[in-house]
Amino acid sequence: MFEDLTVRDVFPTPIWTLDLKADVAADFNARLLKELNALMTPRPPLAPGANWQTDPILHEKPEFADLTKLAISAGRAAAKFLKLKDQDLVVTGLWGNVNPPGGRNSPHTHPNNFLSGVYYVSTPGNEGRIVFDDPRAQARVMMPPIHEFTAHNGNNITFDVKPGRMVVFPAWLTHSVPVNASGHDRISFAFNLMFRDYVQNASPALWRGTVKIDA
Ligand SMILES: [Fe+2]
Repeated sequence: MFEDLTVRDVFPTPIWTLDLKADVAADFNARLLKELNALMTPRPPLAPGANWQTDPILHEKPEFADLTKLAISAGRAAAKFLKLKDQDLVVTGLWGNVNPPGGRNSPHTHPNNFLSGVYYVSTPGNEGRIVFDDPRAQARVMMPPIHEFTAHNGNNITFDVKPGRMVVFPAWLTHSVPVNASGHDRISFAFNLMFRDYVQNASPALWRGTVKIDA
């Protein structure tokens, strides 16, 4: 008979959620909304199911400097958690998203970056959700019936979000946003983070040869 059962989670996929205080979020989001509306007015017509999205250069605009700083500080917290040596992360893209009623985002990744994130401004009618797919392709080979869904037996996981919440995740992790079934716009900002000096700091080989060569 076994004396003990231990489960070890190996190769976990971290997803960080960071919440502002409610009163801070309310003020901040009102400001962001005002700036976003200024950029998005008038809104161009959309095909059914499509979304309004700004160009991904809001991090270059002073009106979004606070959000850019917030994204960097969330990235630093993630890098610290991962015990990375090089934590000098920069925002390489920041854009506003407006999902009108019926709007959705298909599964996708954010290539050529280390981390990605979303900050939520408005999630009407509990319609703020983001879905992450299991990145382990082999895990879909066997999907036996289950009597309860857990993080260990599903092939995707849905995160509930709310205004003032930031979600940060590996940029390679496939994610999607379900249809906005409310009657109001769902509003968020998305961003990408990359190491400022990746080529200089991280790309050189981490090992040394047995044949020494003077630099
Ligand atoms: Fe995305």
